[in-house]
Amino acid sequence: MNRYTNKVALLTGVASGIGRATARRLAAEGACVFGLDIDQTGLAETEAEITSAGQQMSGRVTDIRSVQECRAAAEACVATYGGIDVLGNIAGIANQRHVHQVTEEDWDLMNDINLKGVFFLTQAALPHIIEREGNIINIASNAGLMGQAYTVPYCATKGAVVNMTKALAMEFVKHPIRINAIAPGGVDTSLTANFKVLEDADYSLMARYTGARPSTQPEQIASLFAFLASEEAQNIHGSIVSSDGGLTAE
Ligand SMILES: NC(=O)c1ccc[n+]([C@@H]2O[C@H](COP(=O)([O-])OP(=O)(O)OC[C@H]3O[C@@H](n4cnc5c(N)ncnc54)[C@H](O)[C@@H]3O)[C@@H](O)[C@H]2O)c1
Repeated sequence: MNRYTNKVALLTGVASGIGRATARRLAAEGACVFGLDIDQTGLAETEAEITSAGQQMSGRVTDIRSVQECRAAAEACVATYGGIDVLGNIAGIANQRHVHQVTEEDWDLMNDINLKGVFFLTQAALPHIIEREGNIINIASNAGLMGQAYTVPYCATKGAVVNMTKALAMEFVKHPIRINAIAPGGVDTSLTANFKVLEDADYSLMARYTGARPSTQPEQIASLFAFLASEEAQNIHGSIVSSDGGLTAE
Protein backbone atom coordinates (compact mmCIF):
# COMPACT_ATOMS: atom_id res chain seq x y z
CA MET A 1 0.00 0.00 0.00
CA ASN A 2 1.10 3.55 -0.69
CA ARG A 3 -1.34 5.59 1.37
CA TYR A 4 1.27 8.19 2.38
CA THR A 5 2.73 9.32 -0.95
CA ASN A 6 3.33 13.12 -0.69
CA LYS A 7 2.39 13.08 3.00
CA VAL A 8 4.52 14.36 5.86
CA ALA A 9 4.36 12.64 9.25
CA LEU A 10 5.77 14.29 12.37
CA LEU A 11 6.25 11.49 14.92
CA THR A 12 7.66 11.41 18.46
CA GLY A 13 9.34 8.46 20.16
CA VAL A 14 10.77 7.07 16.92
CA ALA A 15 14.02 5.79 18.51
CA SER A 16 12.26 2.70 19.86
CA GLY A 17 9.19 0.51 20.07
CA ILE A 18 5.86 1.73 18.71
CA GLY A 19 7.35 4.99 17.41
CA ARG A 20 10.08 3.21 15.44
CA ALA A 21 7.60 0.68 14.01
CA THR A 22 5.26 3.53 13.01
CA ALA A 23 8.09 5.47 11.36
CA ARG A 24 9.05 2.34 9.41
CA ARG A 25 5.48 1.63 8.36
CA LEU A 26 4.59 5.16 7.22
CA ALA A 27 7.92 5.59 5.41
CA ALA A 28 7.38 2.23 3.67
CA GLU A 29 3.99 3.55 2.50
CA GLY A 30 5.58 6.66 0.99
CA ALA A 31 5.59 9.22 3.84
CA CYS A 32 8.33 11.71 4.57
CA VAL A 33 8.85 11.04 8.29
CA PHE A 34 10.13 13.82 10.51
CA GLY A 35 11.05 11.84 13.62
CA LEU A 36 11.71 13.20 17.10
CA ASP A 37 13.25 11.53 20.12
CA ILE A 38 15.41 12.41 23.11
CA ASP A 39 17.57 9.31 22.42
CA GLN A 40 20.09 10.43 19.81
CA THR A 41 21.55 6.95 19.20
CA GLY A 42 18.22 5.19 18.69
CA LEU A 43 16.97 8.06 16.55
CA ALA A 44 20.03 7.82 14.28
CA GLU A 45 19.51 4.03 13.99
CA THR A 46 15.89 4.47 12.88
CA GLU A 47 16.87 7.18 10.42
CA ALA A 48 19.72 5.09 8.97
CA GLU A 49 17.48 2.05 8.59
CA ILE A 50 14.75 3.97 6.78
CA THR A 51 16.95 6.07 4.52
CA SER A 52 19.16 3.12 3.58
CA ALA A 53 15.98 1.41 2.33
CA GLY A 54 15.55 4.37 -0.04
CA GLN A 55 12.72 5.89 2.02
CA GLN A 56 12.37 9.35 3.54
CA MET A 57 13.15 10.21 7.16
CA SER A 58 14.80 13.11 8.89
CA GLY A 59 15.49 12.87 12.65
CA ARG A 60 15.75 15.68 15.17
CA VAL A 61 16.84 15.21 18.78
CA THR A 62 14.04 16.78 20.81
CA ASP A 63 12.98 16.69 24.44
CA ILE A 64 9.22 17.03 24.25
CA ARG A 65 9.15 18.27 27.86
CA SER A 66 10.33 21.62 26.49
CA VAL A 67 7.64 23.80 24.89
CA GLN A 68 10.36 25.67 22.99
CA GLU A 69 11.77 22.42 21.60
CA CYS A 70 8.28 21.29 20.54
CA ARG A 71 7.73 24.56 18.67
CA ALA A 72 11.17 24.42 17.06
CA ALA A 73 10.60 20.79 16.00
CA ALA A 74 7.26 21.57 14.32
CA GLU A 75 8.86 24.49 12.45
CA ALA A 76 11.85 22.33 11.46
CA CYS A 77 9.48 19.71 10.06
CA VAL A 78 7.75 22.36 7.94
CA ALA A 79 11.10 23.80 6.82
CA THR A 80 12.35 20.33 5.83
CA TYR A 81 9.29 18.80 4.17
CA GLY A 82 6.97 21.76 3.53
CA GLY A 83 4.14 21.00 5.97
CA ILE A 84 2.60 18.49 8.38
CA ASP A 85 -0.14 16.03 7.34
CA VAL A 86 0.04 13.68 10.33
CA LEU A 87 1.17 14.25 13.90
CA GLY A 88 1.81 11.13 15.98
CA ASN A 89 2.32 11.80 19.68
CA ILE A 90 3.91 8.47 20.56
CA ALA A 91 6.77 9.09 23.05
CA GLY A 92 6.00 8.16 26.64
CA ILE A 93 7.31 6.59 29.83
CA ALA A 94 5.85 4.21 32.41
CA ASN A 95 6.89 2.77 35.75
CA GLN A 96 5.49 1.09 38.86
CA ARG A 97 5.41 2.74 42.27
CA HIS A 98 3.30 2.45 45.37
CA VAL A 99 1.35 5.67 45.83
CA HIS A 100 3.40 6.59 48.90
CA GLN A 101 6.65 6.19 46.92
CA VAL A 102 5.78 8.71 44.19
CA THR A 103 7.95 11.81 44.50
CA GLU A 104 7.24 15.25 43.07
CA GLU A 105 10.03 14.58 40.53
CA ASP A 106 8.37 11.28 39.48
CA TRP A 107 5.04 13.02 39.06
CA ASP A 108 6.47 15.95 37.08
CA LEU A 109 8.54 13.72 34.78
CA MET A 110 5.57 11.49 33.94
CA ASN A 111 3.27 14.46 33.34
CA ASP A 112 5.81 16.49 31.38
CA ILE A 113 6.52 13.66 28.91
CA ASN A 114 3.17 11.86 28.67
CA LEU A 115 0.87 14.88 28.84
CA LYS A 116 2.52 18.31 28.56
CA GLY A 117 4.66 17.25 25.60
CA VAL A 118 1.59 15.89 23.80
CA PHE A 119 -0.33 19.12 24.33
CA PHE A 120 2.38 21.57 23.32
CA LEU A 121 3.56 19.65 20.26
CA THR A 122 -0.10 19.45 19.20
CA GLN A 123 -0.48 23.20 19.76
CA ALA A 124 2.61 23.87 17.63
CA ALA A 125 1.58 21.50 14.83
CA LEU A 126 -2.14 22.37 14.66
CA PRO A 127 -1.94 25.38 12.29
CA HIS A 128 0.02 23.21 9.83
CA ILE A 129 -2.35 20.25 10.24
CA ILE A 130 -5.28 22.57 9.55
CA GLU A 131 -3.53 23.96 6.46
CA ARG A 132 -3.11 20.42 5.05
CA GLU A 133 -6.45 19.10 6.39
CA GLY A 134 -4.44 16.43 8.18
CA ASN A 135 -4.86 14.52 11.39
CA ILE A 136 -3.42 13.79 14.83
CA ILE A 137 -3.04 10.46 16.61
CA ASN A 138 -2.14 10.32 20.29
CA ILE A 139 -0.90 7.06 21.76
CA ALA A 140 -2.87 6.62 24.98
CA SER A 141 -3.05 3.21 26.71
CA ASN A 142 -5.47 0.71 28.18
CA ALA A 143 -4.21 2.39 31.38
CA GLY A 144 -6.14 5.49 30.30
CA LEU A 145 -9.39 3.51 30.19
CA MET A 146 -9.20 1.47 33.40
CA GLY A 147 -7.74 1.71 36.88
CA GLN A 148 -4.47 -0.13 37.49
CA ALA A 149 -2.69 -0.66 40.77
CA TYR A 150 0.83 0.73 41.26
CA THR A 151 0.72 2.98 38.18
CA VAL A 152 -1.44 5.84 39.41
CA PRO A 153 0.58 8.68 37.78
CA TYR A 154 0.80 6.74 34.48
CA CYS A 155 -2.95 6.04 34.50
CA ALA A 156 -3.60 9.71 35.31
CA THR A 157 -1.55 10.90 32.32
CA LYS A 158 -3.08 8.38 29.92
CA GLY A 159 -6.62 9.11 31.13
CA ALA A 160 -5.82 12.76 30.49
CA VAL A 161 -4.57 11.96 26.98
CA VAL A 162 -7.86 10.15 26.31
CA ASN A 163 -9.95 13.13 27.35
CA MET A 164 -7.57 15.67 25.79
CA THR A 165 -8.08 13.83 22.48
CA LYS A 166 -11.86 14.10 22.83
CA ALA A 167 -11.70 17.77 23.90
CA LEU A 168 -9.46 18.64 20.93
CA ALA A 169 -11.84 16.75 18.65
CA MET A 170 -14.73 18.87 19.92
CA GLU A 171 -12.89 22.18 19.60
CA PHE A 172 -11.90 21.40 16.01
CA VAL A 173 -15.04 19.54 14.94
CA LYS A 174 -15.86 22.26 12.38
CA HIS A 175 -12.41 22.04 10.79
CA PRO A 176 -11.70 19.36 8.18
CA ILE A 177 -9.11 17.69 10.39
CA ARG A 178 -9.26 14.54 12.52
CA ILE A 179 -7.97 13.89 16.04
CA ASN A 180 -7.96 10.38 17.51
CA ALA A 181 -6.11 8.20 19.97
CA ILE A 182 -4.94 4.60 20.00
CA ALA A 183 -5.09 2.74 23.30
CA PRO A 184 -2.67 -0.19 23.12
CA GLY A 185 -2.59 -2.98 25.68
CA GLY A 186 0.69 -4.80 26.33
CA VAL A 187 3.23 -4.35 23.52
CA ASP A 188 6.74 -5.86 23.46
CA THR A 189 9.00 -2.79 23.50
CA SER A 190 11.82 -1.44 25.67
CA LEU A 191 9.17 0.17 27.84
CA THR A 192 7.79 -3.23 28.84
CA ALA A 193 11.20 -4.96 28.85
CA ASN A 194 12.50 -2.40 31.37
CA PHE A 195 9.30 -2.32 33.42
CA LYS A 196 10.17 -3.39 36.97
CA VAL A 197 7.28 -4.93 38.85
CA LEU A 198 7.40 -4.02 42.54
CA GLU A 199 8.96 -6.77 44.66
CA ASP A 200 6.02 -6.70 47.05
CA ALA A 201 3.35 -6.32 44.36
CA ASP A 202 0.05 -8.08 45.03
CA TYR A 203 -0.37 -10.01 41.78
CA SER A 204 -4.08 -10.52 42.39
CA LEU A 205 -4.51 -6.75 41.89
CA MET A 206 -2.62 -6.91 38.60
CA ALA A 207 -4.38 -9.99 37.19
CA ARG A 208 -7.16 -8.11 35.44
CA TYR A 209 -4.84 -5.95 33.39
CA THR A 210 -2.16 -8.48 32.56
CA GLY A 211 -4.73 -9.93 30.14
CA ALA A 212 -5.78 -13.36 28.94
CA ARG A 213 -3.88 -13.02 25.67
CA PRO A 214 -0.15 -12.50 25.18
CA SER A 215 1.23 -9.04 24.51
CA THR A 216 1.56 -7.95 20.90
CA GLN A 217 4.29 -6.54 18.68
CA PRO A 218 4.75 -2.82 17.93
CA GLU A 219 4.03 -3.51 14.24
CA GLN A 220 0.39 -4.22 15.20
CA ILE A 221 0.04 -0.70 16.63
CA ALA A 222 1.88 0.78 13.64
CA SER A 223 -0.54 -0.99 11.31
CA LEU A 224 -3.55 0.48 13.14
CA PHE A 225 -1.86 3.90 13.14
CA ALA A 226 -1.29 3.67 9.38
CA PHE A 227 -4.99 2.96 8.83
CA LEU A 228 -6.28 5.56 11.29
CA ALA A 229 -4.11 8.37 9.90
CA SER A 230 -5.01 7.53 6.28
CA GLU A 231 -7.88 8.60 4.02
CA GLU A 232 -9.47 5.22 4.73
CA ALA A 233 -10.44 6.44 8.21
CA GLN A 234 -12.10 9.69 7.08
CA ASN A 235 -15.15 9.24 9.34
CA ILE A 236 -13.16 8.54 12.50
CA HIS A 237 -12.80 11.66 14.66
CA GLY A 238 -12.59 11.93 18.44
CA SER A 239 -12.28 8.17 18.84
CA ILE A 240 -10.17 6.13 21.22
CA VAL A 241 -9.35 2.97 19.31
CA SER A 242 -8.15 0.04 21.41
CA SER A 243 -5.65 -2.55 20.24
CA ASP A 244 -5.32 -4.63 23.40
CA GLY A 245 -6.35 -8.23 22.77
CA GLY A 246 -9.63 -7.71 24.63
CA LEU A 247 -8.08 -6.33 27.80
CA THR A 248 -10.64 -3.54 28.14
CA ALA A 249 -13.58 -5.51 26.73
CA GLU A 250 -15.09 -6.39 30.06
N1 LIG B 1 4.58 -0.96 25.36
C1 LIG B 1 3.37 -1.03 25.88
O1 LIG B 1 2.97 -2.08 26.41
C2 LIG B 1 2.44 0.16 25.80
C3 LIG B 1 1.10 -0.03 26.13
C4 LIG B 1 0.23 1.04 26.08
C5 LIG B 1 0.70 2.28 25.69
N2 LIG B 1 2.02 2.45 25.38
C6 LIG B 1 2.46 3.79 25.01
O2 LIG B 1 3.09 3.73 23.74
C7 LIG B 1 4.00 4.81 23.63
C8 LIG B 1 5.33 4.28 23.10
O3 LIG B 1 5.87 3.39 24.05
P1 LIG B 1 6.81 2.16 23.68
O4 LIG B 1 6.24 0.98 24.34
O5 LIG B 1 7.10 2.15 22.23
O6 LIG B 1 8.10 2.58 24.54
P2 LIG B 1 9.63 2.75 24.16
O7 LIG B 1 10.31 2.98 25.47
O8 LIG B 1 10.08 1.62 23.31
O9 LIG B 1 9.65 4.08 23.30
C9 LIG B 1 9.38 5.35 23.89
C10 LIG B 1 10.25 6.39 23.20
O10 LIG B 1 9.94 7.67 23.77
C11 LIG B 1 11.17 8.39 23.86
N3 LIG B 1 11.09 9.47 24.85
C12 LIG B 1 11.03 9.34 26.21
N4 LIG B 1 11.07 10.55 26.78
C13 LIG B 1 11.14 11.47 25.77
C14 LIG B 1 11.21 12.88 25.74
N5 LIG B 1 11.24 13.62 26.86
N6 LIG B 1 11.27 13.51 24.53
C15 LIG B 1 11.27 12.78 23.39
N7 LIG B 1 11.22 11.43 23.36
C16 LIG B 1 11.15 10.78 24.53
C17 LIG B 1 12.17 7.32 24.28
O11 LIG B 1 13.51 7.74 24.06
C18 LIG B 1 11.76 6.15 23.41
O12 LIG B 1 12.44 6.15 22.16
C19 LIG B 1 4.09 5.45 25.02
O13 LIG B 1 3.30 6.62 25.04
C20 LIG B 1 3.50 4.38 25.93
O14 LIG B 1 2.94 4.93 27.08
C21 LIG B 1 2.89 1.42 25.41
